[in-house]
Amino acid sequence: MLSAKSAEVIEATLPVVGAAIGDITPRFYDRLFAAHPELLRDLFNRGNQANGTQRQALAGSIAAFASALVAHPDQRPDAMLARIAHKHVSVGIADDQYKIVHEHLFAAIVEVLGEAVTPEVAAAWDEVYWLMANALMAVENRLRTEAAAGGDPDDLWRPYTVVARHQETETVTGYLVRPADGRPVPASRPGQYVSVRTELPDGARQIRQYSLSGRADGALRFSVKREPGGEVSGHLHDHLRAGDTVELSAPMGDVLLADGDGPVLLASAGIGNTPMTAMLDHLAATGSTRRIVSVHGDRNQLDHAFRADLARLTAELPNATAHVFYEQPLGEWPAERTGLVDLASVEVPAGTTAYLCGPLPFLRAVREQLLTAGVPAADIHYEVFGPDLWLGA
Ligand SMILES: Cc1cc2nc3c(=O)[nH]c(=O)nc-3n(C[C@H](O)[C@H](O)[C@H](O)COP(=O)(O)OP(=O)(O)OC[C@H]3O[C@@H](n4cnc5c(N)ncnc54)[C@H](O)[C@@H]3O)c2cc1C
Ligand code: HEM
Repeated sequence: MLSAKSAEVIEATLPVVGAAIGDITPRFYDRLFAAHPELLRDLFNRGNQANGTQRQALAGSIAAFASALVAHPDQRPDAMLARIAHKHVSVGIADDQYKIVHEHLFAAIVEVLGEAVTPEVAAAWDEVYWLMANALMAVENRLRTEAAAGGDPDDLWRPYTVVARHQETETVTGYLVRPADGRPVPASRPGQYVSVRTELPDGARQIRQYSLSGRADGALRFSVKREPGGEVSGHLHDHLRAGDTVELSAPMGDVLLADGDGPVLLASAGIGNTPMTAMLDHLAATGSTRRIVSVHGDRNQLDHAFRADLARLTAELPNATAHVFYEQPLGEWPAERTGLVDLASVEVPAGTTAYLCGPLPFLRAVREQLLTAGVPAADIHYEVFGPDLWLGA
């Protein structure tokens, strides 16, 4: 896929570009947003821009893609592209925007590396960029067409009416929404999320993702935790009420509960249990007899969203167990389940496929524990509620 000449140049310049990527990405985003302020206002997550996570994710993914191409020039590392493509489609990236990103990314590279960017070096990195961009566009176009289900693939956003809103916990609000355009509710798979686009008081239309959290006849169900200082979660909590309209993308996301008969482990912390609840709900709805181990960590019983659903769904499933850990339990609680999630006391059946969702330190710890328990890395899948800083890792 990557020409032999470019592979050589990329290999030689990867260390320099890799070392400079921390300088290149801020310059790239500054240039991009100076030329197109509407992208920061209405497309990119300005919270992620402010805390820097999206910048790291983009830079990391290009370096990882280049390294993979150098190691295997004949293969295209498609697996790492799937997560980006799903996210891109859910926020509404259009093919022609790849030229805009290219222009500002390469200008930033030249600004940082100066004369080291000879025409030969520029051409080789150009080839990497377009291999990645074309691969992403191909996956994105397929996803868009599938998601449109006969509608317009270029018009991803659909209006929904909030038919019910309920307080899951003090900080988590659940929403049940129905399409307001008369078309059927889109298909979704357990583990997927929707993007929600909201107009904020300053006129910006910001986009955030929320995982679907279970079955809903002709409707979609999602839950939002109010983040301290969070723009969109705070706005939804304060303003989105029953009867209101909200714009949603089609369901997207590549961390999906795989079919099969083997054991499943669902591990979450905090609000990370939204996709896990959808998976458990799906298993219960299909009368699954699989061995299912649910593990969840939270601060205490009151903070634990979907606590009743976890108990109900576990009871409905013939071979399911639930193990809940509280850092600061209220009242009597077993000592071995007090503190952070620890799989040492949980039986992990042989052949388990694991799905994890929670903050990065939780993901790191549980992944380690699963590897120690003998679960192969390939059978550990995870969702992150922010830019994936593990992409390509
Ligand atoms: C695939 C996916 C699924 C998700 N599913 C769910 C779900 O089911 N439920 C759910 O509640 N959430 C979910 N999320 C998270 C959700 O999308 C939002 O990220 C979350 O609601 C916070 O958005 P916000 O606008 O409220 O916060 P933001 O305003 O975006 O802020 C996010 C964080 O950045 C910090 N920050 C903001 N500005 C700055 C600054 N200037 N400097 C430093 N730090 C700053 C904030 O304090 C906050 O901690 C999911 C995310 C993804 C990617
Ligand atoms: C080859 C080119 C590109 C690469 C390598 C790339 C890479 C990435 C990565 C790694 C993520 C984070 C995925 C995740 O973990 O969730 C992401 C998200 C995103 N990308 Fe791209 N991208 C490219 C092109 C584009 C283009 C052309 C646009 C449009 C201007 C764009 C806009 C976005 C937006 C808006 C997000 C979500 C941001 C957020 O929520 O913080 N990207 N991209």
